[in-house]
Amino acid sequence: MTQPDRTDDATISQPSRRSFLGSSAAASMAAGLAVHSSVEAAEETRELRLAVVGCGGRGSGAINDSLSINDNIKLVAAADLYATKADQMRRAMQGAHEGKVELPDAKIYEGLDAYRRVLDDPEVDVVIMTTSPGFRPAYVRDAVAAGKHVFAEKPSCVDPAGYRICLEAHAMAAANGTGIVTGTQYRRQTNYIGAIEQIRKGAIGEIVSATTRYCSSGIWYRPRQPEMSDAEYQMNNWMHFIWLSGDQIVEQAVHNIDTINWVMGANPVSAYGSGGRFTRPADSEMWDNVVVDYEYPGNKIVSFMCRQIPDTTGDNGSVIYGSTGRCEIGAINSGSRIYDMKGELVWEMGGSIADAYKQEHRDLIDSIRAGNPIVELAQTADSSLVAVLGRVAAYTGQKVAFDYLAEKSEIDLFPKNLSWDADLPEPQFAIPGKTKLV
Ligand SMILES: NC(=O)c1ccc[n+]([C@@H]2O[C@H](COP(=O)([O-])OP(=O)(O)OC[C@H]3O[C@@H](n4cnc5c(N)ncnc54)[C@H](O)[C@@H]3O)[C@@H](O)[C@H]2O)c1
Repeated sequence: MTQPDRTDDATISQPSRRSFLGSSAAASMAAGLAVHSSVEAAEETRELRLAVVGCGGRGSGAINDSLSINDNIKLVAAADLYATKADQMRRAMQGAHEGKVELPDAKIYEGLDAYRRVLDDPEVDVVIMTTSPGFRPAYVRDAVAAGKHVFAEKPSCVDPAGYRICLEAHAMAAANGTGIVTGTQYRRQTNYIGAIEQIRKGAIGEIVSATTRYCSSGIWYRPRQPEMSDAEYQMNNWMHFIWLSGDQIVEQAVHNIDTINWVMGANPVSAYGSGGRFTRPADSEMWDNVVVDYEYPGNKIVSFMCRQIPDTTGDNGSVIYGSTGRCEIGAINSGSRIYDMKGELVWEMGGSIADAYKQEHRDLIDSIRAGNPIVELAQTADSSLVAVLGRVAAYTGQKVAFDYLAEKSEIDLFPKNLSWDADLPEPQFAIPGKTKLV
């Protein structure tokens, strides 16, 4: 499959509001990003009304970021599996953002079809999609079809079927003139942008190879309550079920895989990997660790590792090795550095993840107001599928091609006829050599 050029630098907007309005349209055009062509670039001045679907940790965080950084904006609707979660989020936002929350009980929607009622609400302009990942592709596609602008958290998809839905949603948004910004906040963090600019300028010579890690000490587990159906239990304890989270490599490590795709300016050709499980709860489908060699075009090998095991040493940075030096890009707030071949520090830059989380919401709203909504779903869908590629290579024990997964694979994890009371198959985890590549 010929991949559109959507992994290059010009997808990044600058972290200054003043510079953004002037530069974003040009930057988006230069990147081949979809921009709204049918609307004049007249600035939209009316109040924009937000809704959130999925009011947990990140949903609350994302709404808080958007309300903090944007003016003339209001939260008007919310959806969650549980109204109590939406209500908790509402109370926190009312406390923090006086005058920016107008969310009556009647606009708190509960249950599996709650997202649909947000999309049917003509008052809503922008929807923040922060459910567990398994729902994301169809929810984003349906939001675009309903004419809404979208902020969609990462990962964009957890399987090839979801990837194809994302590409469809991206194309539809580009044609509709609606925006989709995604939650890969490092694309908007100063030390990432700065490091990749340096690499592009030749500060480490030719890129030779890279390593990237997402090794942390564990993750939450939400035990089953006696009254819960299989479906409710799995949706609530979503991290541990692959149809909902994609496993750690997709749910969490997609950030670093996205960084490497950005550095390389391409998707990898193939992946070969391994891993296993030692400490997960008995019914968790997750593995504890995955290691993958990704082969990028030009035979450049990226060594990837992720792990979630308590009492182990963490590392979530990336190192890009070049012919004349190396660049270290540190996650969270740990900055970026470039060293020459003697190990001397030749460049460094700091960056704040909190600023990056806000910047993505500023960029979405500014681009809508400028009449050129950013559409970047395909870029993050690519990175999400690269994470899926690593998982599938490790689960099956086979070397797997990106194009196979993108075009031919029949993996489609979302349960058919999902309902609140549904019985679901017994959880199972992959065993290399037995788990088949389909
Ligand atoms: N960009 C980042 O750094 C970052 C950080 C944390 C989480 N995330 C992403 O944000 C998403 C949410 O993560 P979280 O930590 O907030 O999880 P969470 O469990 O705290 O919240 C998820 C919420 O969505 C609700 N929900 C689930 N399915 C739903 C559905 N079908 N319809 C409506 N509501 C539904 C749940 O009830 C819950 O309130 C995930 O995709 C995660 O990967 C991104």
